[in-house]
Amino acid sequence: MQQEALAPVEYEQLKRRVAEISWYHRIDLGHGIVTTGRNRRQERLARIVLPPSFSGLTVLDIGAWDGYFSFEAERRGAARVLATDSFCWGGEGLATKAGFELAREALGSKVEDIEIDVMDLSPERVGTFDVVLFLGVLYHMIHPMRALERAYSVTGKQLILETEVDMLHVRRPALAFYPGRELWDDRTSWFGPNPAAVVAMVKTVGFREVKVVDKQRPLHVRFARSVGRRLRRRNPFTLASLQRSRMSLHAWR
Ligand SMILES: C[S@@+](CC[C@H](N)C(=O)[O-])C[C@H]1O[C@@H](n2cnc3c(N)ncnc32)[C@H](O)[C@@H]1O
Repeated sequence: MQQEALAPVEYEQLKRRVAEISWYHRIDLGHGIVTTGRNRRQERLARIVLPPSFSGLTVLDIGAWDGYFSFEAERRGAARVLATDSFCWGGEGLATKAGFELAREALGSKVEDIEIDVMDLSPERVGTFDVVLFLGVLYHMIHPMRALERAYSVTGKQLILETEVDMLHVRRPALAFYPGRELWDDRTSWFGPNPAAVVAMVKTVGFREVKVVDKQRPLHVRFARSVGRRLRRRNPFTLASLQRSRMSLHAWR
């Protein structure tokens, strides 16, 4: 994406518009302007092991929010990127679609968008895509198997999934249920599968090959994460939070 230099007045306008939005993703818009999102993009890129090139591929980003991963797929050469979301874009969450729209405009991006619930995804509604990004969404699903079935239905070749995981002490597939605000005081999180469950669930919906690219983090990292959350959001520190981590995998049909 080639950017033209902005006139001083346009630069000030863009800075002002960026400042008006509550961002989730930290996106480099060029012109020395980076959005103020709290999400640690570089660390996540490495953990998700996003392929260095998407050259010629079609990509679907499920739950794109501000669209950082959609724009990154485009930057890495994707032929077509479709960003989808519903909860945050519909204004129910902490944010709106304004960040995605402003970033797309500022980047001169051709990323397409459809506001659609995960549960409504189907080849008939959106088509199929070489690569499907399902990042940070699974644990928000009240019907996680059904959501994975929807993701499978629109995956042409490869799924890249990242999720919160829980119950790390249990070896066999198991899911923690959060009927209230048990996970990070967030009412939109429902299930924390353990790593064995994530692999089993992905295989159960039909993916033949699964490669875990980011396993659970060591105890001291989980401890620091839990204490950090406690300080930032005033969540109580609990021993149960040490059983939680993040996990990423790639799966192929
Ligand atoms: C934790 S954010 C992850 C954002 C981005 N994928 C990432 O990894 O940085 C979860 C996203 O999933 C979206 N989401 C939650 N429930 C959804 C649903 N039922 N259908 C579509 N999107 C949903 C939210 O709106 C939000 O954008």
